[in-house]
Amino acid sequence: MRRLLPAALAAALVGSLPKWLPGRVVALRVTIFAMVNGDEGLPVPVEDFRRLYADPAAMGRSKGAALSDLFWYWLAPGPEVHQEHLEAGPRYDEVAKTTRHILVKPRAESEELTRRVAAHVLDELEVGEGRLIRLRDEMMPIWAELYYELVFGEPCPPEARDLIVGHADDVVSALKCVRPRNMRRRAKLTQYLRRRLADVPHALPSRLSPQEQVFYLQGTFFNTAVVQMSEAMAHLLMIIAQHPDVQRRLVENPYDDAYLDRVIDEGLRTYPLFGIAHRITTADIELDDKKIDAGTVLLFSYPDFHHAGFERPEEFDPSRWEPPTGCPVHAAPLKKDVNFLPFGVTQNRACPARGLAPITMRVVTREFLRRFAVSSSAAHTRSIPNRGPVFLTPRGSTRSTRGTLAYLAVRDRWEDVWRSLAQLVFGTYMVLDARRKRLCVAYFANHGGE
Ligand code: HEM
Repeated sequence: MRRLLPAALAAALVGSLPKWLPGRVVALRVTIFAMVNGDEGLPVPVEDFRRLYADPAAMGRSKGAALSDLFWYWLAPGPEVHQEHLEAGPRYDEVAKTTRHILVKPRAESEELTRRVAAHVLDELEVGEGRLIRLRDEMMPIWAELYYELVFGEPCPPEARDLIVGHADDVVSALKCVRPRNMRRRAKLTQYLRRRLADVPHALPSRLSPQEQVFYLQGTFFNTAVVQMSEAMAHLLMIIAQHPDVQRRLVENPYDDAYLDRVIDEGLRTYPLFGIAHRITTADIELDDKKIDAGTVLLFSYPDFHHAGFERPEEFDPSRWEPPTGCPVHAAPLKKDVNFLPFGVTQNRACPARGLAPITMRVVTREFLRRFAVSSSAAHTRSIPNRGPVFLTPRGSTRSTRGTLAYLAVRDRWEDVWRSLAQLVFGTYMVLDARRKRLCVAYFANHGGE
């Protein structure tokens, strides 16, 4: 009996790990990040969010924030010419104009291109009678093919697709601290793009050297675009997997765009892709009750903003976006009046893909649901480090999902345990390494203004 007690206690402790360990490890990681980076930022209260974001003096992007060193580290190579990081000026203007030019296409053409690449990738996905997959992994090839074709104007060869997926996966895994970054893996895509630069049919920013043009394409289209779209679709399909009523309605009404848009909007509200965006003030800002000094790092929390002012804010409820009874117009007027800015603030470098992204998400959702029924018992959080595990069965299959979902729930909880420990180790390493390399500080020390 005396020998059995410690064994029983140890078993109970081990068995309860998934319940308490991941949360504590995440809290420890946050503390370590704050210790290494210091608390330089000023969190912007929700009520000042729009006003401050839109202020002309809140436009500094990188220079002067220790936080920038970490983002430059994660988004390397070429963070100094990444559109998100460039300071205002002629180089930024030229880069932003090129991005708009590459993204703009007649809507029908964008839809047809998306349908073609989604069908190509999803038709390759073997699920047999049913298969567990991770949504982010299966979505990445779609966006790799799509953005390759937008940039190069021709279908994506398998070699390029593998390099783009390898690169985007490396960036997003490092961002979520589940792996350290692998610069050799990223360099393979850089070399490929360098070889193919002359084949790009668009005029590229003339103020950038050929090597910088390569970095620009790699950063904006084969990193940000592929990562953001894969994450957005992983969230959306995960929501659909966990809301059978929503899935049923979408499948029964595949051309009800208004409903699908409400589901997409509510998904972006509940799981905004950006956590905290930062800006550095370039001049003093006077508010009614306080003054913010030039050089302050402003921290804009999208999750806090998207939660404030909504009833049951953590709940996914697409009916929030239904137009008021009697209003024949779609919900757009309502969006301006609530705390919802999934693509950022128009006056301050909003997302250049804000027109294209929802159109393409709609097409991919339809192509996906036409082929597969999707369900999941895994955890769904904003950072989605589990990459959206779901069980897929061919649409129309009558196979029971109960056993597989029970297994998935247990597997997901245990993965959370080892993942949280890996994140602690890799996250701490990367924060320290970024602090040591100081990519942003070193760049501005050598280049001055832009
Ligand atoms: C659903 C998908 C997407 C969401 C929700 C999203 C969201 C956002 C948000 C909130 C910002 C502003 C961040 C800030 O203020 O600091 C932003 C900026 C940006 N996004 Fe997106 N994005 C998405 C897809 C894309 C795609 C497909 C591209 C591909 C080109 C892209 C490229 C960029 C760039 C380059 C910026 C920086 C803009 C600038 O500083 O001029 N995004 N995005």
